[in-house]
Amino acid sequence: PHIPVICVDGPTASGKGTLASQLAQTLGYHYLDSGALYRITGLAARRAGLALDTAHEQSIARLAATLPVRFEGERVILGGEDVSEAIRSEAAGMDASQVSALPSVRSALVELQQSFRRLPGLVADGRDMGTVIFPDAPLKVFLTASAARRAERRHKQLISKGIPAKIDVLRADLEARDARDTQRAVAPLKPAQDALLLDNSDQGIAESVAQVLGWWEDKQ
Ligand code: C5P
Repeated sequence: PHIPVICVDGPTASGKGTLASQLAQTLGYHYLDSGALYRITGLAARRAGLALDTAHEQSIARLAATLPVRFEGERVILGGEDVSEAIRSEAAGMDASQVSALPSVRSALVELQQSFRRLPGLVADGRDMGTVIFPDAPLKVFLTASAARRAERRHKQLISKGIPAKIDVLRADLEARDARDTQRAVAPLKPAQDALLLDNSDQGIAESVAQVLGWWEDKQ
């Protein structure tokens, strides 16, 4: 059967997660946070005492292929343990970016990601949803915002959770992560050829959601 998918790809802290989960909620679709899978893989590799480099690519890929992971609403459960907070730190994001540059790790996660495509539909967020995982998706959105705006948002988010953060450090971190994600050989961060670009630097979340819902209606 033809199961609809909306892909939301874009750089770090562009607001993909918020946009994608609100779209999923509005449409009653399933939601895939593909970044969480790379974050969990990074965490599992760290815990196994593996350095996150090519020397350990096969071992990390084996971990990724057999991740005992469950999503329960907003919570991410790894082998019975709630790791929702543990995977959200900046360090976990950097670890995710490192393991995600290993080709065998990416292949190990393809089927798991595609298994989220179930009726009535899916909204998937990540870096390569439209280019690699769901190339036949009828709607692909590439979400961007200026680095300054993204650092500002991430800063606000952390501060509101009581986590101390410096805006210029955050900006340097996210630019480093973008550079690695954009320059890697396999599935680099880039808009699919048929993606629609959305810059939300000067747009609130409600406006972005309305924009994408409009595009989605046009496709029906
Ligand atoms: O989106 P999020 O910040 O959770 O992703 C963490 C890292 O995982 C990204 O910096 C990127 O390196 C990697 N990632 C990826 N492909 C995806 C989703 C995330 O390479 N589809």
